[in-house]
Amino acid sequence: MSVPLLDLKRQYKQIKDEIEREVLAVLESGYYILGPNVKAFEAESAEYTGAKFAIGLNSGTDALRIALRAFGVGPGDEVITSAFSYFATCEVIDDIGARVVFADIEPKTFNIDPADILRKITSKTKAILPVHLFGQLCDMDSIIAISRETGIPVLEDACQAVGASGPAGKAGSIGTAGAFSFFPSKNLGAAGDGGLLTTNSEEIRDFATSMRMHGTKSDRYRHELFGYNSRLDEIQAAVLRVKLRHLDSFNDLRRANADRYREAFDKIEGIEPAFEENGYRHTYHQYTVRIADGRRDEVQKHLQEKGVGCAVYYMVPLHRQPVYGELYSGLNLVESDRAAREVLSLPIFPELTETEQSEVISAIAEVLAK
Ligand SMILES: Cc1ncc(COP(=O)(O)O)c(C=O)c1O
Repeated sequence: MSVPLLDLKRQYKQIKDEIEREVLAVLESGYYILGPNVKAFEAESAEYTGAKFAIGLNSGTDALRIALRAFGVGPGDEVITSAFSYFATCEVIDDIGARVVFADIEPKTFNIDPADILRKITSKTKAILPVHLFGQLCDMDSIIAISRETGIPVLEDACQAVGASGPAGKAGSIGTAGAFSFFPSKNLGAAGDGGLLTTNSEEIRDFATSMRMHGTKSDRYRHELFGYNSRLDEIQAAVLRVKLRHLDSFNDLRRANADRYREAFDKIEGIEPAFEENGYRHTYHQYTVRIADGRRDEVQKHLQEKGVGCAVYYMVPLHRQPVYGELYSGLNLVESDRAAREVLSLPIFPELTETEQSEVISAIAEVLAK
């Protein structure tokens, strides 16, 4: 039996009638850009995340980029972020002319280590960009304490963490701004690209609203700033509104799958199950285990041979990406490097069956027992 890492068609089939009704209504309305669905989705997602404002954009990448520009980050400034994330997190910092300062991660959660943030702050630091990786909130209490002490704003990269929470609150409502992605594979996935910026600040809301329309305000043809074409379109907003209504139950199914994995992996030598901090609600965008002693690649190969989908997020930590050449070669980020050698993400999507999950578990047990 083969088991996919992710199968988007299963969820679509479940909610097909609702999705098709709403998408058809958009097509028939003739209103395709910044219409009633985007407006309603912004209100509903603001309520869901607990942030005052939510602005629909065309990707998580643009949400990050626009939020950093709203903070006033630009050439000569430094932004501290995690070395263990998807490339878009650091790409936007370079793209707006600022310098990335990489911090290491905490080994259990794979999230940025607040102690390393503190060590890396300089007079040039203009933003802190923690990433709620794989669906688990960072230690936001510590990060917000640093922000309050230094006055440096915090941008939450919540692209993998819609619905995640912890003692400090819900992802996207804790920092100065939050960025979400609705790339189809995300827990809340559109039928194409989509993103969202959340904030409690009216000023940031107005900036983002202007940026997504080429730097205009109320008059469409007066451009006060250089912006982007970064709108969430009506069809995507209609799909997202339907899926948002189901999101908590989908996330609960992911969590139930994670519980089953944890129980099984506790009994298998050589594999460390995904870790959930006490008081946190991990949403398991990815279910990521550690396999130490140089055996990760062997396990991955075995799973692939058995037809079990799995992937390494991320094989190359950000400070070692080829685009940076030798720029960060002197950096010693032990935990980010170790994670890149040891992590493996397993199927966790809500519609995964128990039989399929047992297949994943026995394939892992087979290779690690040897
Ligand atoms: C952590 C992280 N940041 C940023 C992004 C960028 O989001 P998008 O693909 O919507 O631009 C993604 C997703 O791809 C992500 O996983």
